[in-house]
Amino acid sequence: MRRPPTVPIERFLARVALPTAAVFLTSVSASATDPDPVVTFAKDVAPILQQSCQVCHQVGSIGPMSLMTYEEVRPWADLIKVQVESRNMPPYHYDVGVGIQQLKHDARLSEDEIRTITAWVDQGAPMGNAADLPGPIEFPKAGVFRLAEEYGEPDVIVRSTPYSVPANGQDLWWQPTVEVQGIPTDRCIRAIETKPSVKGRAVAHHANSTWRLRGEDGGMTAGGRLSEYALGKLGEIVPPDACRIAPANAQVSWDIHYYPAGEEVIDDQVEIGIWLYPEDFKPETLYQQTLALYGLQGGDFDIPPHGKLMTQGFHSFDHPVRIDSFQPHGHLRLTSMSLETFDPRAGRREMVSMVSHWNPGWHLSHIYEDDVAPLLPAGGVIILTGWYDNSEANRFSPDPDPWVGTGNRTGDEMSHAWIAITHLDEAGYQRLLAGRQAKRNGD
Ligand code: HEC
Repeated sequence: MRRPPTVPIERFLARVALPTAAVFLTSVSASATDPDPVVTFAKDVAPILQQSCQVCHQVGSIGPMSLMTYEEVRPWADLIKVQVESRNMPPYHYDVGVGIQQLKHDARLSEDEIRTITAWVDQGAPMGNAADLPGPIEFPKAGVFRLAEEYGEPDVIVRSTPYSVPANGQDLWWQPTVEVQGIPTDRCIRAIETKPSVKGRAVAHHANSTWRLRGEDGGMTAGGRLSEYALGKLGEIVPPDACRIAPANAQVSWDIHYYPAGEEVIDDQVEIGIWLYPEDFKPETLYQQTLALYGLQGGDFDIPPHGKLMTQGFHSFDHPVRIDSFQPHGHLRLTSMSLETFDPRAGRREMVSMVSHWNPGWHLSHIYEDDVAPLLPAGGVIILTGWYDNSEANRFSPDPDPWVGTGNRTGDEMSHAWIAITHLDEAGYQRLLAGRQAKRNGD
């Protein structure tokens, strides 16, 4: 576990270059011994930390320090204020007030919760009355699939091959390919959950997985994305009106990002639980959902030293579609990405999602609630826009001096988004539109 910061706070603020710095610095002098504190840890702050922080900030999880008790939280109060005001924490980087806001498993704090935390810090971060502390809650057990409560044990479990993570060192990537057992014919996926091992929870930062499809001749070719994972993410749930295919006799390629956490972890394995719809849930009778990569640029690009760049990608569909989720992807120079749609029938261009504080440490999928997932008629266009910053202003950039081109290394740049799309036909599109209209009328 990390110790509270010993760097002067000004240096931390300079490092993260947050707009809240001024507010913070004027509030340091606020009384630490307010005689009648209105906001207390026990009554107001602890419930928020319990719901939104402790899953990661407890011993054995991925957060750098535990935030379970007042004693543990108090030394971090100033930094907590900075991190929640800037919406760096909890890690769910999706703009408030722009585009669709109804998202499944939205981890963002509400404005009220942020105000509560900042008011508490400004009042000197008092404990309050211990009797007000919330009762303990149950955190997802590291060894158990959380979706099992809803769906029972997974039909299929895919395990990465064992990998040992040393106690100390740099980031590590583990990319094995494994056979999938138990899916002899194409099936429809109901849900997917990626689960680190109990010991591995502190070191498995992300685990991404893609299908490798078996051809007629037995040769393997790259298939679509199966899943991506970062702690805090529950899983993926496919709406029952769509089929995301689990291909027969496939393999899975892993891309696991390990991060040494002070203790050696031997033979770690990450698991993916896959729940399937019943066998008579025929893929061919349902609209197919795909999770695919949509690029932002026509070809390569270069970002000049100390420079900036914007790229844009356009993807049109010759059939109606529903956009189910959006996950931006970039490396260290990407700073923002947006998803817009153009509806040629309505002649309307609309902002769907904006992530203006992209953080390369977190790869999160934003899943639209069923009733608001954007519907596009045939001829509709997805417009993806990415902004890159190769200057000193970008706190994630390791070095603003070189030209930065496209490529796979962390120091190269990438620009695409993972988007889940349900591919409709005209009848299905009209039915969904009519269903939403009926709901609106009923309200
Ligand atoms: C999904 C896991 C997760 C959740 C949820 C989460 N954190 Fe974090 N937190 C991390 C990780 C990992 C880091 C270190 C890396 C980073 O900053 O991304 C971190 C870093 C921090 C830091 C900075 C520590 C430092 O040394 O700079 C603070 C402060 C913090 N979190 C507070 C919070 C608060 C407050 C909440 C809830 C409102 C929260 N976190 C929710 C995982 C999480």
